[in-house]
Amino acid sequence: MVFNFYVAQRILQHVEVPVPAPKADEVLLKIEAVSINPIDWKLQKGIVRPFLPRKFPFVPSATDVAGEVVTVGSGVKNFRAGDKVVSWISPASSGGLAEFCVAKGSLTVPRPPELSPVEAAGIPSGALSAHMALTRFAGVKLDLSGPQKSILVTAASGGVGLLSFNWPNLETPM
Ligand SMILES: NC(=O)c1ccc[n+]([C@@H]2O[C@H](COP(=O)([O-])OP(=O)(O)OC[C@H]3O[C@@H](n4cnc5c(N)ncnc54)[C@H](OP(=O)(O)O)[C@@H]3O)[C@@H](O)[C@H]2O)c1
Repeated sequence: MVFNFYVAQRILQHVEVPVPAPKADEVLLKIEAVSINPIDWKLQKGIVRPFLPRKFPFVPSATDVAGEVVTVGSGVKNFRAGDKVVSWISPASSGGLAEFCVAKGSLTVPRPPELSPVEAAGIPSGALSAHMALTRFAGVKLDLSGPQKSILVTAASGGVGLLSFNWPNLETPM
């Protein structure tokens, strides 16, 4: 899917483009599921023009993708063809809203088998944002080793909000 100019309306077009080739530090994925984050529609609306997108037509990043590894770049040692993975795609590099996309090996992790591709694709951006908000900005120690803090999470039914109040539970030893 691509868009060709900044616009608030639904203007994505289905087009055929070549399958991208992974660089040395990248993996080529056959996409199984993606999630759309606010950054995707904000970019399309033009909130950071003229920096992003830098050129058109632009395949939206769909920053969070789940897929199967097809090939790996020469420098990627921890994945091989057939691995089921989850990746974060930079909005600047684009390409996730497609059948195939390339992702940095360093921003790719194995998908736990108990998570479906759809479930897994809903995690990376929201989880990273929640993690940064809690640890960097609110100064929370997620292993609960620091002082207790009370934190108000607004919009807590959204992707970032849900994960914000679940991180401490995930890190607490059972
Ligand atoms: N996702 C990311 O990776 C990421 C990264 C950095 C920054 N952000 C920013 O963080 C914000 C939330 O992102 P998200 O991914 O969590 O979005 P989301 O999943 O779409 O969730 C949006 C949340 O905002 C609530 N909301 C919407 N309109 C509201 C209103 N008028 N008053 C009160 N609450 C309202 C929604 O409540 P209802 O469900 O009740 O509608 C929902 O809880 C966005 O501004 C986004 O740009 C997101």
